[in-house]
Amino acid sequence: MSVAVTAMQKVSVVNSHNEWDTLQEVIVGRVEGATVPRFEAGVKVDAAPKYWDFFQKFGGTLFPDELVEPATKELNEFCRVLEGEGVTVRRPDIVDFTQVYKTPDFESSGMYATMPRDILIVVGNEIIEAPMAWRSRFFEYRAYRSLMKEYLRQGAKWTTAPKPLMSDDLYDFDFAAKSPEEQEALVEQGRYAITEFDPCFDAADIVRFGRDLFVQRSHVTNQLGITWLRRHLGDRYRVHVVKFMDFNPMHIDASLVPLRPGLALINPSRPPVDSKLFKKAGWDLVETAPPAAPDYWKLPIASKWISMNLLSLDTERIIVERQEEPTQKLLKDLGFKVIPVDFRHVYTFGGSFHCLTCDIRRDGQLEEYGFSSPIDMDDRI
Ligand code: ALA
Repeated sequence: MSVAVTAMQKVSVVNSHNEWDTLQEVIVGRVEGATVPRFEAGVKVDAAPKYWDFFQKFGGTLFPDELVEPATKELNEFCRVLEGEGVTVRRPDIVDFTQVYKTPDFESSGMYATMPRDILIVVGNEIIEAPMAWRSRFFEYRAYRSLMKEYLRQGAKWTTAPKPLMSDDLYDFDFAAKSPEEQEALVEQGRYAITEFDPCFDAADIVRFGRDLFVQRSHVTNQLGITWLRRHLGDRYRVHVVKFMDFNPMHIDASLVPLRPGLALINPSRPPVDSKLFKKAGWDLVETAPPAAPDYWKLPIASKWISMNLLSLDTERIIVERQEEPTQKLLKDLGFKVIPVDFRHVYTFGGSFHCLTCDIRRDGQLEEYGFSSPIDMDDRI
């Protein structure tokens, strides 16, 4: 079903077009230096109320050692498994995220270099630093600059999207003050935690299917951010807006996870508003299995559905959390070779294997996978 867009493409050190070609080099985030973000408006909207105290009390301080240590062990083992599978692993620098910073528009402290997927996206031979919306993430790029300069020297195209000012105008404080139930109703009307003041997106709100990129509006991705991405990428790519039955949207990789050409996992608790469009393009959307994490597991900034936040090494090998047995069974039934890795302590920092990585190089080229016309499920855009 795939059609090569150009026959001859020079392969650069940065080269990745989708989520499933053979992975050759990847950045894996780290929890050393991870700092609890301040209880800013976006954090309040994303986190369940039972965690608000945690952010209010510990915002600006290091995550406690009893969370960092087991997560570090899991991450080290994850890197070892990747290397064993033939993947080159790169890590961001260790940075002091507790440092307080002040711009003309706001003051904050930082967060972490744990989730490269949120800040970086590779589209072909270009690596783009996303204009993320949280003030605690303004300087997150500093942890990746050594790597970016190295990739630049080796031939990569490196782009930083315009940095948001992050003045009060970017945030809908009225939205953040509402109860979670009221917020759901507002999301249904197309209102989110951020306004259109600056173009913003998190790279994790985008999923790549070769020439077709799917992006969702969310509490960190606005229309102006999507406009910037569309115009920046130009005619070579189609940037489609996709909408899910998700009333607290933030990051697409626990909602739509392509596994190989023609097959993607979706989340039964937040299906796409219109899946016919995928079906028309020849894609089967399979509901993922129920997540295994127990209710008591600390998940301040993620849902249990990060069970489907897996990492494909190619169209056969997939890394899945060791205790997510229902997800493993589903994938085996679909013909995949599952590589189980312990990662539940990492979950507590807000993501799983997909969030924790940014694929720098996969071995494929730019292709099309059945989509043609723009798919725009969000009629408010
Ligand atoms: N924020 C998304 C979730 O936790 C990835 O489901």
